[in-house]
Amino acid sequence: MNDLRRTVSDLLPGVLADLTDLVAIRSVSSLPAHHGDVSASADAVAGLLRGAGCPDVRIVAEGGQPAVIGRWPAPEGAPTVCLYAHHDVQPTGDPDAWTSPPFEVTERGGRLHARGVVDDKAGVAVHLAALRAFGGTPPVGVTVFVEGEEEVGSPTLAAILERHRDLLAADVYVICDSANWAVGTPAFTTTLRGLADLVVEVSTLDHALHSGQYGGVAPDALTALVRLLATLHDDAGDVAVAGLVRDDGFPLEHDADRLRAEAGVLDGVELLGTGPLADRLWTRPAITVLAVDAPSVAQASNTLTATARAKISVRLAPGQNGPAALTALKDHLTAHAPWGARLTFGAEQYGHGSQIPLEGPVADAAVAAFTQAWGTDPVQMGQGGSIPMVADFQRTFPDATVLVTGVCDPDSRMHGIDESLDLGDFSKACLAEALLLAELGAAVGRG
Ligand code: BES
Ligand code: MN
Repeated sequence: MNDLRRTVSDLLPGVLADLTDLVAIRSVSSLPAHHGDVSASADAVAGLLRGAGCPDVRIVAEGGQPAVIGRWPAPEGAPTVCLYAHHDVQPTGDPDAWTSPPFEVTERGGRLHARGVVDDKAGVAVHLAALRAFGGTPPVGVTVFVEGEEEVGSPTLAAILERHRDLLAADVYVICDSANWAVGTPAFTTTLRGLADLVVEVSTLDHALHSGQYGGVAPDALTALVRLLATLHDDAGDVAVAGLVRDDGFPLEHDADRLRAEAGVLDGVELLGTGPLADRLWTRPAITVLAVDAPSVAQASNTLTATARAKISVRLAPGQNGPAALTALKDHLTAHAPWGARLTFGAEQYGHGSQIPLEGPVADAAVAAFTQAWGTDPVQMGQGGSIPMVADFQRTFPDATVLVTGVCDPDSRMHGIDESLDLGDFSKACLAEALLLAELGAAVGRG
């Protein structure tokens, strides 16, 4: 344990340098203009794995963005552990809103700032550190799987999984793409929400009109859309769509004051909904209007708008089925369309949530390794975000143990401006994963 602690601490500067280089590649999977960068980041990840001594590295794609698979065959009698992360990132939003340039890793106050530095290139770096800790010869079989399109809902993951099922089969999956309880306190994620979204278009007129000439009689589409969107929640902020599942009863208390502070909710602004915070965050549906297509304020004229669109996103209870949720949402919208407005739906998408019980001997070994590395017991918590590959892998490999871990913390600002990684947590996460591989290998005398 002490040897591994020293080894990991010695190799951290090199791993952080590699993380910095990886972050500089603008692998935004949602923007076609950056698909060359997504390929370049797959190449870079493949190069890092080769450099870590991986004897079998390949880049795979099934019509989507490239993933990287690296494999070390299992020593006789040892289990195979698959280490997952993703190398694609979200767009930056307005780059000028960032305190430092979004693709240049910049340290401030013990944290590294950049797009993707935590979600999820840190996941790649944690796996790299754990592998380097064994000098290129891990004590277990290892398959590294680094996806290139997680941030766009993994559209070709099922095809990759089907084509490469044998390469990806493992006894244990370590998914390093989730969040911890607090800086300094690790967590295993035991539930993830699913996700379903669609675009609704509202039409009320066959052409735009002068708002003075016809206003007061002819309904405009933007006002109709706003009224429609307002029906998605009740006055307390609870979701008002019938047919969405709730999996109430998450066994953990969350503190409202802490949550307000971490989320940066302004003084006087209320938290949404009623009931236990853990359920509202992790096991109940949440609905957000992500975007609206309508005239901008700068372009506004005195006009009744004929059509307007909104993208609506529903975070699903871990046990909810995506198509059923989309049907419930469309039924609700259709039933609540004001003034007979016409609705059309498009761009429907969903990803599964999951339940990930932390049970069995592998989970026990993981808890022990994390407790040693972090110096405190890991918390079992849910997450409101989505990692749909977890459900896909659970379904394909039902006998495997899945461990969902990560290096995000409540202030990581994933997907936001000034995304950041806590350096102390990063080093603990690297040690924890190295210790876990050692523990899993120790059973066959190689740890
Ligand atoms: N790392 C996140 C998932 C996550 C978010 C875990 C918050 C824990 C807390 C992941 O990269 C992500 O953002 N997933 C997308 C999935 C979607 C595109 C299907 C998400 O949740 O929006
Ligand atoms: Mn993400």
